[in-house]
Amino acid sequence: MYPPLVLVLAIFFTVATTIAAMSSPLPHPLDLLSPTELTAVRSAVLASSLVASRPISFHYVGLDEPKKPDVLSHTNAAAAAAAILPRRAFVIARAGGLSHEFYVDVTNTSAPRVVSHGIHDGPGFPMFTTEEQVAARQLSREYPPFRESMRRCGLALTDVGCGVFSMGWFGKNEARRLAKVQCFVVAGGTANYYARPLEGVTLLVDVKKLVIVGYRDRAAYSVPKDEGTDYRAGKAGPPFNGAVPAPGVVVQPEGKGFHIDGHIVRWANWEFHMGFDMRAGTVISMASVHDADADLWRRVLYRGFVSEIFVPYMDPEEESYFHTFMDASEYGLGVSAVPLQPEADCPANAAYMDGYYVDADGKPVKSENIISSITEVRPDVTLVVRMVVTVGNYDYTLDWEFKTVGLAYPHIFCHLHTLCQSNVNAFNYCCCKGYCSTIIDHVEYMNIA
Ligand SMILES: *[C@@H]1O[C@H](CO)[C@@H](O)[C@H](O)[C@H]1NC(C)=O
Repeated sequence: MYPPLVLVLAIFFTVATTIAAMSSPLPHPLDLLSPTELTAVRSAVLASSLVASRPISFHYVGLDEPKKPDVLSHTNAAAAAAAILPRRAFVIARAGGLSHEFYVDVTNTSAPRVVSHGIHDGPGFPMFTTEEQVAARQLSREYPPFRESMRRCGLALTDVGCGVFSMGWFGKNEARRLAKVQCFVVAGGTANYYARPLEGVTLLVDVKKLVIVGYRDRAAYSVPKDEGTDYRAGKAGPPFNGAVPAPGVVVQPEGKGFHIDGHIVRWANWEFHMGFDMRAGTVISMASVHDADADLWRRVLYRGFVSEIFVPYMDPEEESYFHTFMDASEYGLGVSAVPLQPEADCPANAAYMDGYYVDADGKPVKSENIISSITEVRPDVTLVVRMVVTVGNYDYTLDWEFKTVGLAYPHIFCHLHTLCQSNVNAFNYCCCKGYCSTIIDHVEYMNIA
């Protein structure tokens, strides 16, 4: 085996955008919507007479990709010069108690226009916005029964932090947009507040009206202690505090080894487009590998992204049964992407890409340093595109690995923050330190075309 040396070649989206602006005036048909385009989408939706109700809250805005044959023919330089593919956005917004879907043309960002509008009339709701989660969490603070429960537990309001939990679907069509709010003890600056749930207390919130419509304080359980659960670097006890291996040095005498043109990445015998979506996170498109024998490019993957991460908890208790999270479509992997930390998530010579999405008001939000490219030296050299997403008590590392033999693999690594329960039942798993937790499934779905 070769030593586990890791080289990181990373990409600055901002740099990449500048390069794109210099080398080709037109975006690649699969480039994520720019801040200018996102702003144009917002103006077109707000100016549209198709929806009279106000306010309009934006839950999703993403690229409405052109059809595959058009995109493929666009890669031919002559075709690309002859025809400009339209730039369109798909929008999911809420207004007047309804879910609206818009297609907006922003090919000319000075004259954006809504090209179609529909109302979603089936069950289900769009992704939570960050703003509504913050507002829903805050409601408990002013709610007298909750304050009374805290007082009885001997807790101050500042001792607890709450989260918004999607409800799952159990066969009943609910017209209201509801979510549950559950809380954790944060007092003492614990690193693991998910280990300290306030079990027995659940609030039911109408997220649209921002009112509490149900409250349960059914039992008082002791809150699990957090001693010995700090696994952060430098804080963990045995066996994590032993000798640290000698630091490695990254040497790339012949440069970074890959090239970026706009959002196209070229490395070794690979070429692909790297995109971003507020729901799916990283989107890899048009990955081709060069076949040296035949001297031609072979298409390997038209498009690949995580379509869902489904997280059902295996516990029928009142506080847990509805924990059936859809992390991509309820919380958004792109929205939940966190800045990659140099020398922790990626080695020292990393550079990074930014992404853009919209807030509830439809205004562009920049998410910095969320995607990197890495070459890893294992028995062979591979290129890895990485994003780290934090949804609740999970950190997901979403990797795409490219190998010079022409193979591409998606990997999802799931890192669970310590999650404990006092209300121990037959469905719990208790570990050696006496901490108990629900058994949780993780089902990951990829969309590969
Ligand atoms: C874009 O729209 C503006 C405003 O309507 C118009 O003046 C301009 O000519 C348009 N540009 C193109 C290339 O069509």
